[in-house]
Amino acid sequence: MKDINTANLPSHVAFIMDGNGRWAKSRLMPRSFGHQHGMERMMGLLQHAFDLGIPTVTVYALSTENLSRPQAELDALFSLFRTYFSKYVHELIEKKARLCILGDISVLPEDVQSSIQSAVQASASFTERCVNIALNYGARDEILRAVNLAVVQGKQLDKEGFANLLYTKGQSDPDLIIRTGKEKRLSNFLLYQAAYAELYFSDKMFPAFSDKDFDAALEEFSNRTRRFGKV
Ligand code: IPE
Ligand code: IPE
Ligand code: MG
Repeated sequence: MKDINTANLPSHVAFIMDGNGRWAKSRLMPRSFGHQHGMERMMGLLQHAFDLGIPTVTVYALSTENLSRPQAELDALFSLFRTYFSKYVHELIEKKARLCILGDISVLPEDVQSSIQSAVQASASFTERCVNIALNYGARDEILRAVNLAVVQGKQLDKEGFANLLYTKGQSDPDLIIRTGKEKRLSNFLLYQAAYAELYFSDKMFPAFSDKDFDAALEEFSNRTRRFGKV
């Protein structure tokens, strides 16, 4: 921790939580075991981010493409969402964190949708902290959705007008995107908002990505020079 320049922390960190399945496989356990540990770890990382004063955290929990996975894996994921929403939502509310969903949750079981909706409503007035969960999220879908909305409105848009049609309406762009699980790609995550995000890739599988690993990513971020195209 002592190496982190706290004056230069990101305001918005986004996680691509990848590697749950491989983490479980290496322990001869089913993939759902990895997802369960991944969710526990996510709650730890969220707490750590808040403790450090990072106000916005985005978590890529399910992509539009992930919906093509076997139904048994999806059912296990939906059941985890069900458990974790009821288990942790009050903690987010206690921390005055606003919960936002990025993506189309109409594909989720109805009881999961309604517990998500009530958490979103219960936290809607909080402004100090924000947790975005990307669920059935795909950046291409998000961009097409925005374009179609713009067409219906019949308006020419500037950057701000377009950003207001995205799921992340009103939010700052991610400063730092952390992907665990060894792969070095964005996998359809925040393609518009990531224009000037710093990217950090970790070989650790998500359930094994510790608070110390997060600190290392933050330390590297704090030492990078962001030029935004300038000299
Ligand atoms: C990420 O872990 C979580 C989701 C995509 C739901 P994976 O399930 O992709 O785990 P690996 O990449 O197969 O190890
Ligand atoms: C990205 O992980 C999606 C999430 C973390 C939710 P994937 O495991 O789906 O990505 P690919 O298939 O390796 O690109
Ligand atoms: Mg994966």
